[in-house]
Amino acid sequence: MVSYKELGLVNTREGFKKAMEGGYAIPAFNFNNMEQLQAIVAACVETRSPVILQVSSGARKYANQTLLRYMAQGAVEYAKELGLNIPITLHLDHGDSFELCKSCVDMGFSSVMIDGSHLPYDENVALTKQVVEYAHKHEVTVEGELGVLAGVEDEVSAEHHTYTRPEEVEDFLGKTGVDSLAISIGTSHGAVKFKPEQCTRNAQGILVPPPLRFDILDEIMKKIPGFPIVLHGSSSVPQQYVETINKYGGALKDAIGIPEEELRRAAKSSVCKINIDSDGRLAMTAKIREIFAAKPSEFDPRKYLGPAREELKELYKHKTVNVLGSANRV
Ligand code: G3H
Ligand code: 13P
Ligand code: ZN
Repeated sequence: MVSYKELGLVNTREGFKKAMEGGYAIPAFNFNNMEQLQAIVAACVETRSPVILQVSSGARKYANQTLLRYMAQGAVEYAKELGLNIPITLHLDHGDSFELCKSCVDMGFSSVMIDGSHLPYDENVALTKQVVEYAHKHEVTVEGELGVLAGVEDEVSAEHHTYTRPEEVEDFLGKTGVDSLAISIGTSHGAVKFKPEQCTRNAQGILVPPPLRFDILDEIMKKIPGFPIVLHGSSSVPQQYVETINKYGGALKDAIGIPEEELRRAAKSSVCKINIDSDGRLAMTAKIREIFAAKPSEFDPRKYLGPAREELKELYKHKTVNVLGSANRV
């Protein structure tokens, strides 16, 4: 058993309180490898932003959970070396069982998500409550979820979102004791969040997706005022990356994300955590494709992963400064 406190990590309690008061959201960036982690930490130190490092099931399979935990421990030291001891949370993204959440708590994660959103309501409550009871004994914070995001793998349109039902949230919080709640108001995972036929074209001919359901968010905030809300699936899918990827041999079709101004608006509300993964994937892929096309004889991974890391850092800085408002909060 390792406590996250020994590793220099923090849970989300204090950070969410400050985010709520300050009207900003803390970035939750997924990482799977060293370059992503370096970019996240460097960007957040340079912009003086707190950060949540997220480990998904896919990341655990790809990189190994133990290794990722040591990397997060290293991130704390790396931030200090770069000159600022920013608050860093190590968070399990989309935990799907009690056993997985327990194993993360036991090995030094400071926050876990138990995602029972696909289960019938009562089963989601029971599973979430079980995780909260264990995690809270170790002062680890817990994120639960109500409502289901449409996923790219489902190949479904926005009509298939199961939006969060505001009438359930108070009961869910009371029965489970979660510290934050992920909700479904129209965001979705991956780079293809909307079909073109769901979008309209603005004056510049750019596809504009249907707006997020801020009316549902407002209803939820009325039911649970001051309670930290989480938005998953919040990549904006910058079109310059999509164009670069396609220009250099990629085949990304109809990749459309959440407009930044909607995320800015959400960050000013009770939304205290915004999850971003796909945008980082796009930034890295765009830069690597560009280098492969420009320098076909290059075979030193540092020569393409290094510039990809720089590109990622700039993307994350842009998020903290211009989208989430978390810059200059440390
Ligand atoms: O919510 C999903 C995240 O983007 C992680 O995805 O399981 O492919 O790492 P992944
Ligand atoms: P994106 O696919 O929009 O980056 O969402 C990531 C996410 O929600 C991770 O939990
Ligand atoms: Zn997610």
